[in-house]
Amino acid sequence: MIKLYGVIGDPIVQSMSPIMQSQEFNELGIDAHYHPFHILDKDLQDAVKGMKAIGVEGFNVTSPHKTMIMPFLDYIDPLAKAIGAVNTVVRINDEFHGYNTDGMGYIKALQADWKEDFTNDKALIIGAGGASKAIFYTLLSRGMKNIDIANRSVDKANQLIVDCPFEGNSNAITLKEAEAKIGEYQLIIQTTSIGMYPNVSESPLSFENLHKDAFVSDIIYNPFETALLKEANEKGAKTQNGLGMFVYQGALAFEKWTGLTPDVSRMTDIVIKHLG
Ligand code: ATR
Repeated sequence: MIKLYGVIGDPIVQSMSPIMQSQEFNELGIDAHYHPFHILDKDLQDAVKGMKAIGVEGFNVTSPHKTMIMPFLDYIDPLAKAIGAVNTVVRINDEFHGYNTDGMGYIKALQADWKEDFTNDKALIIGAGGASKAIFYTLLSRGMKNIDIANRSVDKANQLIVDCPFEGNSNAITLKEAEAKIGEYQLIIQTTSIGMYPNVSESPLSFENLHKDAFVSDIIYNPFETALLKEANEKGAKTQNGLGMFVYQGALAFEKWTGLTPDVSRMTDIVIKHLG
């Protein structure tokens, strides 16, 4: 019988997950349908119950439901619990189990584009929202220690550090402070929406003192090269946009649902073609 999967969010039309996941189900010969569901906040609990009742095997969760969905699930994986957000739900023995593959998706993309082991490097995360939290907590849970967080509101960055259950050596700093000491970091991760289409000329900080051996990630992939990445490239640094993180978080969800390893480069190609 055809297996049912999907993604829930509000809005949902913009999601690339349906084309990316559907293609992989098809390529790997799995008889499945992956559907985008537009779910309003007020209907979230009913939607989860409904998906359970009709036999949905698994689904992704996107904005604004990643945190709100947690009380409606039967089990939450410890990392997702620490992050306080679920992006992947898997049916196991008729229970819905929640996971967070965003942070691991980021790490997999970083390993693919940069290097396997960066545990001893010093990192700066720009931003202190949901994406920042998923990346920060997952990096610390994997043994990285020296990660500073720069944010417009330093209190918010500090709260993220205080709430973190994983051991680390982190400081909350202003964007100006980050600019001044940017040369100290081997890895810089931009997690805010600054520079996203249509505000493509905006950048959270300047890279005047960037080390040329630094690796700079921006989790934005529209545009492919943000103003920040352009400046980093001009300084001779290696860079990466957010496409890899998006594809790998989806690939990790696919693996949890099917036990199969999807083809990440094929998934990347279809997203690029669609954004193109
Ligand atoms: P997400 O969940 O996608 O990570 P979010 O929770 O809305 O998004 O977080 C947005 C992040 O972008 C925050 O770090 C926010 O800074 P504040 O905490 O100070 O609000 C940052 N951000 C958004 N717009 C910004 C701007 N114009 N200048 C500086 N920081 C901005």
